[in-house]
Amino acid sequence: MLGHSVFNPMSPQALAISNLTIVLMIISGFIVLGITGVLIYTMIRFRRRPGQTGEPPQQFGVVKLEIAWTVIPFILVLGLFGGSIAAMDLSSPPDGDPPADIVITGHQWWWEIRYPSGVVTANEIHLPVGKRMLVAVKSVDVIHSLWIPQLGGKMDFVPGQTNSMYLEADKAGTYLGNCVEFCGAGHAWMLARAIAQTPAQFDTWQQQQLRKAAPPAAGAVAQGAKLFGQLSCQSCHTLTGNPANQNANIGPDLTHFASRQTLASGRLTNTAGNVYYWLHDPGQVKPGVHMPNFHLTPSSLQYLTAYLESLK
Ligand code: CUA
Repeated sequence: MLGHSVFNPMSPQALAISNLTIVLMIISGFIVLGITGVLIYTMIRFRRRPGQTGEPPQQFGVVKLEIAWTVIPFILVLGLFGGSIAAMDLSSPPDGDPPADIVITGHQWWWEIRYPSGVVTANEIHLPVGKRMLVAVKSVDVIHSLWIPQLGGKMDFVPGQTNSMYLEADKAGTYLGNCVEFCGAGHAWMLARAIAQTPAQFDTWQQQQLRKAAPPAAGAVAQGAKLFGQLSCQSCHTLTGNPANQNANIGPDLTHFASRQTLASGRLTNTAGNVYYWLHDPGQVKPGVHMPNFHLTPSSLQYLTAYLESLK
């Protein structure tokens, strides 16, 4: 029922934040109910009655009460302050510059994800279960912010600055997230997902991602590869091992495009039908997207789709 919400935490960092939130809500709830209750009681019990004249007796300076309503909030705030410090300590990496386990770069409107092994992917953050990954976050254009509620707090991606966050998952699974800083027309469709796997699966995934793009087979796939070159797709998208590779990263690295669950930063699930739909008019699928509409013919769309879906 709690799904992908903060109340279904799946990491030590998210658990600390969730616990703090619950304690805060309980304390706030008691305060709201207490004050409202006393107010309603007072309004009824001490209301003006028929025949009553003049002002009711006034009271000034009840020392006991004043001490109580100073000391109790002070203790509560001090406790919450301590709790906040503990949660921050657990969920925010300390200053300093240890090598990051993952580097995520925000683009309008997708996430570039790099690992020290050389793996480059987009929009899907693979994590080995139970390992706290130190993530360095950057932006190439405007401020973005990544939030995967089940795994912890938000972190801003600021141009010209590297921030850091932890990403860790207690259990294997897929955890959904969003960009949570308005960054332009495509903001709402700048989705992200963390995919937590066993360490063995994570290693297998990395090995598979490190393979260079296979030379295209015959038929539609080869036709698609040719079109990919003719349309200059490689000016924006890298294909490792492709002779036309220019290390372009205006758009996501497509070397293992077909191994991803989604396309267009989580806008669509990665099926042949959706790839076709996307290529046919990217701006219709994701308003504001920087990828132009090439006004491709149905056969060209089929060839390109076949090629992209072959990039496992
Ligand atoms: Cu990126 Cu909002």
